[in-house]
Amino acid sequence: MGKIIALVNQKGGVGKTTTSINLSASLGYLKKKVLLVDLDPQGNATTGVGVAKTDYKESIYDLLTDKTQLSDVIIKTKFKNLYIIPATINLVGLDVELTERQKEDPNFQTGGQLKKYLSQAKDLFDYIIIDCPPSLGILTKNALVASDSVLIPVQCEFFALEGIMQLLSTIMLAQKDLNPTLDIEGVLLTMLDARTNLGLEVVEDVKSYFKERVYDTIIPRLVKFAEAPSYGKPILAYDSTSRGTLAYINLAKEVIARNGN
Ligand SMILES: Nc1ncnc2c1ncn2[C@@H]1O[C@H](COP(=O)(O)OP(=O)(O)OP(=O)(O)O)[C@@H](O)[C@H]1O
Ligand SMILES: [Mg+2]
Repeated sequence: MGKIIALVNQKGGVGKTTTSINLSASLGYLKKKVLLVDLDPQGNATTGVGVAKTDYKESIYDLLTDKTQLSDVIIKTKFKNLYIIPATINLVGLDVELTERQKEDPNFQTGGQLKKYLSQAKDLFDYIIIDCPPSLGILTKNALVASDSVLIPVQCEFFALEGIMQLLSTIMLAQKDLNPTLDIEGVLLTMLDARTNLGLEVVEDVKSYFKERVYDTIIPRLVKFAEAPSYGKPILAYDSTSRGTLAYINLAKEVIARNGN
């Protein structure tokens, strides 16, 4: 049975999408069959694995509004063992649409749509990785209901832990009301510039707060990470010898080790 991991942090630009793309591709490289779920209307995970609008008709929006079925929205990417459910900008309207449905049918759960479909995908993949948007709205709620665990990327910069309390209380609320078995998969330090003392101080702060939940692997700040998505490639396909490629493969190995397969 596959493991469903959501990349969550309501803070923008901390490396959720970069990690979703590169962790997924690295798990695929390590022979795991992976489904990447783009749950952000920006659709950056979709374009980041080289999937263009012309490659598909229906997206995650059509699935979450019950307009299509799972098998019609899963697309194979060019990368080893990597599949994706794409997202487009119409996903911004999901909030309103699901809320309307709940008004008509008080039994309808706005947060339960993704779980309904991903439980069908669990048998088909080893890992399902969800790239969440930078908010704690209905989309992230759907991810928290559907997931086994949450992976939190934290950027190595001054306000790194800002918003973390709110994030943790949202996760605790989800555990209490919606998904009692939801776990914290791990905390990933991203965009470390080891030339600055500040970056290293943040590493220490985050480690003293989250302790053994923090991955040993720290993702370095590298221009290649910003370049690769414009070529529609994970970093391992863009530059296989980059330090960034090695970092995400090491992260994938840690994820596999923590899950025992
Ligand atoms: N390790 C890194 N080194 C250099 N640039 C990076 C690194 N990781 C991410 N970036 C760049 O930083 C920006 C933000 O990263 P990313 O899109 O992954 O964050 P995000 O948390 O998904 O953002 P959002 O909250 O908007 O969805 C992007 O331009 C990305 O290319
Ligand atoms: Mg993102």
